[in-house]
Amino acid sequence: MKTAFSIPQRIVHWLMAVLILFNLLFSDVMTTFGELYFGDKPIPPDVMSSANIHAYVGIAILALALTRLCLRIAQGAPAHPPEEPAFFRFVATIVHWSLYAMFIIMPFAGIGAFYFKNSTAAFAHIGWMKTALWVLIGLHLLGVLAHQFYWKTNILRRMTTGRT
Ligand code: HEM
Ligand code: HEM
Repeated sequence: MKTAFSIPQRIVHWLMAVLILFNLLFSDVMTTFGELYFGDKPIPPDVMSSANIHAYVGIAILALALTRLCLRIAQGAPAHPPEEPAFFRFVATIVHWSLYAMFIIMPFAGIGAFYFKNSTAAFAHIGWMKTALWVLIGLHLLGVLAHQFYWKTNILRRMTTGRT
């Protein structure tokens, strides 16, 4: 019976958390980029370099997400702790799989906006997708806090040190 996430699964989880938060938090310049790009105006070199960094980080997230999905299918995940009520197990499963879906869909929408100048993809990327990702991350963090301090389970350890 699997008791913790494998080392590759743990490394990818934390690497992706950093990269996703980077793209979510440091994306102000993308609003400027979007206005200029879709308004057919010249893009200053500093805005262009920041936009390139955002795009490359986003593509790295997509590559890591696909790797992670393969690892998840091949290696599975530890069972939900018994202390967690059935309803929350259900919520956690939905949130986890929605996160997997979002970090595949969101980069594709970004690629559509950036490389194909598709305004529908751009609208979705900066609209419902951004909101959905923040909501899912918020729920995820609330879940981790509830496990750590309310149900007092070992889930944080199985995603960090691996000791259970
Ligand atoms: C999971 C990965 C990604 C996240 C979390 C993310 C997040 C964001 C956020 C928060 C914004 C700004 C929204 C706002 O105006 O408030 C944005 C804009 C943008 N992103 Fe991403 N992004 C990701 C991947 C990508 C990728 C892979 C590309 C391109 C290859 C990309 C291209 C763009 C573009 C072109 C905009 C500006 C769109 C516009 O304003 O019309 N993003 N992104
Ligand atoms: C952008 C940020 C994050 C994203 C997108 C994310 C995503 C995910 C996903 C999809 C899973 C499910 C793994 C699976 O079942 O295959 C997971 C598990 C987990 N995450 Fe995160 N995470 C983020 C940040 C964090 C942070 C900041 C913490 C700690 C405070 C954390 C703690 C955990 C823990 C403890 C698990 C394991 C849950 C279990 O054992 O069932 N995550 N994360």
